[in-house]
Amino acid sequence: MLQAPAGLSARTTRFLRGMLGDMASRSTVDMPTVSLPDGTKVPALGQGTWTMGEKKARASVEGAALALGFEHGMTLVDTAEMYGDGGAEEVVARAIAGRRERVFVVSKVYPHNAGRKSAIAACERSLKRLGTDRLDLYLLHWRGRVPLGETIEAFERLRADGKIVRWGVSNFDTADMRELMTLPDGQHCAANQVLYHLAERGIEWELLPWMRERGIPLMAYSPLGQGALLRKRNLTSIAKHLGVTPAQVALRWVMRSPDVIAIPESANPEHVRANRDAVSLVLDQAALDSIDAAFPPPARSTPLAVI
Ligand SMILES: NC(=O)c1ccc[n+]([C@@H]2O[C@H](COP(=O)([O-])OP(=O)(O)OC[C@H]3O[C@@H](n4cnc5c(N)ncnc54)[C@H](OP(=O)(O)O)[C@@H]3O)[C@@H](O)[C@H]2O)c1
Repeated sequence: MLQAPAGLSARTTRFLRGMLGDMASRSTVDMPTVSLPDGTKVPALGQGTWTMGEKKARASVEGAALALGFEHGMTLVDTAEMYGDGGAEEVVARAIAGRRERVFVVSKVYPHNAGRKSAIAACERSLKRLGTDRLDLYLLHWRGRVPLGETIEAFERLRADGKIVRWGVSNFDTADMRELMTLPDGQHCAANQVLYHLAERGIEWELLPWMRERGIPLMAYSPLGQGALLRKRNLTSIAKHLGVTPAQVALRWVMRSPDVIAIPESANPEHVRANRDAVSLVLDQAALDSIDAAFPPPARSTPLAVI
């Protein structure tokens, strides 16, 4: 990891960090990719949008942060009809304008909109807000009362009509995934998006190995623990030892497996650059061992944690 030399003024250090950050981003370490079941490769590091589009005055800052991330290779964006009541999808629309073909767009349908007809109408509303003619991945945000088979039917119809390229689920635990696989076309599920970060490792017990065996990638949401994780003393000391930031350790750790996509959210350009730079961090066995000691893997089965 590139670092500014010690003993400089805070201003000079900030300046150098910015320069070094830009150099690192433009440099050497390519964005790792994750393969979807159909063979499509997507960046292992994407961008989230949960709190975007809530305030009109922030929309241009948020859109610019996403666009910066796209330019640095974080060309997968995760949004949902829920976020900002559609406002996040409108922010994404600004950011993908002129570069739609280079960005992998993920959105999600509310469980109460996931019926045979309602999912189609919800998807069409999302497409309109996003200013695009298709979603690359459409997820059921979480399980609700609508029978899963109905949602799959709607997703398959949307796929046949070219409005989505593929579909998946979110917040599905192993039992939900097992049930999904028994339903007609259930095996077409392309991803499951769940909570996963250093302090929430429960999925390593069963869900992650189960998905791995079947070649279904995992999208890790809140990979920075919504920011709170970054203040934990045992993480800050590991980061200090490695000469990087807590966010960079947290992200690189989530991305250590070739089938996990991390989708941190940031509206701050410095954070976006730093997140991109996390890719250059090498976590060797000693670093992984100290992380395991500070944030132990699960010792038993636990229900899927959700936000
Ligand atoms: N499927 C689901 O049910 C579900 C649930 C939750 C989230 N998600 C998705 O996952 C995405 C990410 O999760 P999240 O937004 O909950 O949390 P997160 O990405 O873990 O954390 C976001 C927070 O971290 C801060 N941050 C980002 N980069 C940073 C850096 N380098 N240094 C310091 N702080 C940094 C951000 O502030 P700044 O803006 O100031 O950088 C923001 O406050 C969401 O946006 C959403 O797309 C999905």
